[in-house]
Amino acid sequence: MATMKAVRFHTYGKPDVLVYEDVARPEPAAGEVLVKVYATSINPIDWKIRAGHLRGFRDYPLPFILGWDVSGVIESAGPGVTQWKPGDEVYGRPDIGRSGAYAEYIAVKEGELARKPKSLDHVHSAAIPLAGLTAWQALFDSAGLTSGQKVLIQAAAGGVGHLAIQFAKLKGLYVAGTAGGRNQEFLKQLGCDLPINYETTRFEDVARDFDAVIESMGGEVRNRSWRVLKKGGILVALLGPPPSEEDTKAHGVRAAIIWAQTKADQLAEFAKLADSGRLRPEIAAVFPLRDAAKAHEMSETEHARGKIVLQVV
Ligand SMILES: NC(=O)c1ccc[n+]([C@@H]2O[C@H](COP(=O)([O-])OP(=O)(O)OC[C@H]3O[C@@H](n4cnc5c(N)ncnc54)[C@H](OP(=O)(O)O)[C@@H]3O)[C@@H](O)[C@H]2O)c1
Repeated sequence: MATMKAVRFHTYGKPDVLVYEDVARPEPAAGEVLVKVYATSINPIDWKIRAGHLRGFRDYPLPFILGWDVSGVIESAGPGVTQWKPGDEVYGRPDIGRSGAYAEYIAVKEGELARKPKSLDHVHSAAIPLAGLTAWQALFDSAGLTSGQKVLIQAAAGGVGHLAIQFAKLKGLYVAGTAGGRNQEFLKQLGCDLPINYETTRFEDVARDFDAVIESMGGEVRNRSWRVLKKGGILVALLGPPPSEEDTKAHGVRAAIIWAQTKADQLAEFAKLADSGRLRPEIAAVFPLRDAAKAHEMSETEHARGKIVLQVV
């Protein structure tokens, strides 16, 4: 049996439950390709699953491989694959219901991939898919925002937020974003029109009559977010619990909660934007695959700027 190196967790717990070990190399089934993983990136869902926070909502058979971003090269193709051949450089967001990319190889459905941005290396490419799809789908598929409208992006210096600012500016939106003091300059560089330092300013005091809020903090921050919206505006939640009808009625606004979907056409669009210099993922840190636990510790601080990447090759 062919094996590969991967990082798995056998029990729920702290980052040190992540084990770098030999596991069976997957075989691509019909309609799937085997991707040699060059890089993958950390998303908060990874450590939320590892810590057991999502048990009952998302249950996986243990031991389990996390990681739902991939940039790499097609190694082989299963029966019926038409789109890819060995050697193609691809990136994507594999199915979150299946084993992930903290590994040397991953089998994915061919439609979950797009051509990797030519101008970016694998580390930068792996930073885009899950966070980019979330940002794009929140702004445009869910909120339906168009040029001239106003959006408040929370956690704007994070993985999702820093890509959301770039997409929003590309589409001609007015963008406010929240971050701590050390990230104010970063938000400006990304094109944010109204960077808000949450350490000194309450966002609802300075952002009013907005068309949309991309809400990724939950709790008390969610409760304060309603006041930013104009009548008929929309709050798009990236986190549960789903916004309540009581809140939307009380404020005369709309709300949605999203769960990012893999859309190859959107990934292809991101690659085009990156190759024309209009999309640039920020890398907070790069760790070798075997140091996934350190990468989780960093992500769990919830203060990384941009994305944390695991380099495999
Ligand atoms: N629904 C979905 O499909 C989906 C997909 C992806 C992510 N998510 C969720 O969306 C959230 C954001 O994801 P992410 O990948 O962007 O996370 P992330 O990269 O870990 O976010 C880190 C950022 O959060 C900022 N932050 C921390 N506390 C803040 C506060 N009180 N106000 C404003 N910003 C604050 C930090 O900036 P400072 O250092 O300046 O504080 C840091 O840059 C997570 O909860 C994640 O689970 C949902």
